[in-house]
Amino acid sequence: MITLNIVGGGRLGRSLARLAQDGGRYRIAGVLCRSPASAQAAVAFIGAGQALCDAAQLPPAALTLIAVPDGEIAAVAAQLAALDLLPAGSVAFHASGAGEAALLAPLAARGVRCASLHPAFSFADPARAVAGFAGTRCALEGDAAAFPALQAWAAAIGGQAFLLAPGGKAAYHAALSVASNYLVTLHALAARIAAGAGIDEATAAALLGDLMRKTLENSLALGPAAALTGPVARGDAGTVAMHRQVLSAADDALYCALGRATVDLAAPRLTAAAQAALGAALS
Ligand SMILES: NC(=O)c1ccc[n+]([C@@H]2O[C@H](COP(=O)([O-])OP(=O)(O)OC[C@H]3O[C@@H](n4cnc5c(N)ncnc54)[C@H](OP(=O)(O)O)[C@@H]3O)[C@@H](O)[C@H]2O)c1
Repeated sequence: MITLNIVGGGRLGRSLARLAQDGGRYRIAGVLCRSPASAQAAVAFIGAGQALCDAAQLPPAALTLIAVPDGEIAAVAAQLAALDLLPAGSVAFHASGAGEAALLAPLAARGVRCASLHPAFSFADPARAVAGFAGTRCALEGDAAAFPALQAWAAAIGGQAFLLAPGGKAAYHAALSVASNYLVTLHALAARIAAGAGIDEATAAALLGDLMRKTLENSLALGPAAALTGPVARGDAGTVAMHRQVLSAADDALYCALGRATVDLAAPRLTAAAQAALGAALS
């Protein structure tokens, strides 16, 4: 059995600990929270482990997951390093999407193998998270000496680990933000513009929902350049100019920025003259 400490038994910490516990290859050692009530609730959910709220009582373990909020990771790593609790050669990792393994530098300085492993998953509710986690991609970066243990751990909890390039965490997280958050921003932009056509909310939701789902499926299946249709892909600068006449100043700025990026995507199919006309219509 491989021992695993959980520092931060919140939504992610208790969900992943429960998956590890259920897998049968890991033994949950300490479960550390700020409050005793939280630690006890986490242990009850996991079904194993020692509820702790004093870091000095954390037992040694082969793996330590630091699942505290992002802004606390560096301070917790410094605290654990000062207490000298984690054995040299053991593995410590955090689960932040944006932060690098370097947040754990004080532990690395003591010979602990440090990494970050970010599951691209939402742990809003631990019971639902445990039920739905299988197949989740987990981005891994940091000290290569920690990778074998963390790849094995990710597989044991049903995840699929993949490696990020050194220094790749910011680009990784920016890509997730564009794919997830900005897709929602695009939806909101389209809904606002549809309201200007007098389309009621329910009709707009169905109209845009069907189109967005099918377009995303095409883009994923064919690749973005091949999936592109519409006035920019056809080199129709007149229609683009007509669209701009009905947009608010803020929506027009977004429309033009996205339009120029779309011209770049369509460029291999467009003549130089069509690209120039579109560029002028979008400037
Ligand atoms: N939630 C998600 O969907 C998700 C997805 C991917 C990655 N992550 C990452 O997972 C990490 C944890 O996020 P979360 O959403 O699980 O947070 P959370 O639900 O707020 O839980 C945080 C836990 O950390 C404990 N904690 C805070 N400061 C501590 C300290 N100084 N010492 C010991 N324990 C401390 C809290 O204890 P108390 O309850 O006693 O305050 C709580 O149990 C973050 O790095 C986050 O970016 C989260």
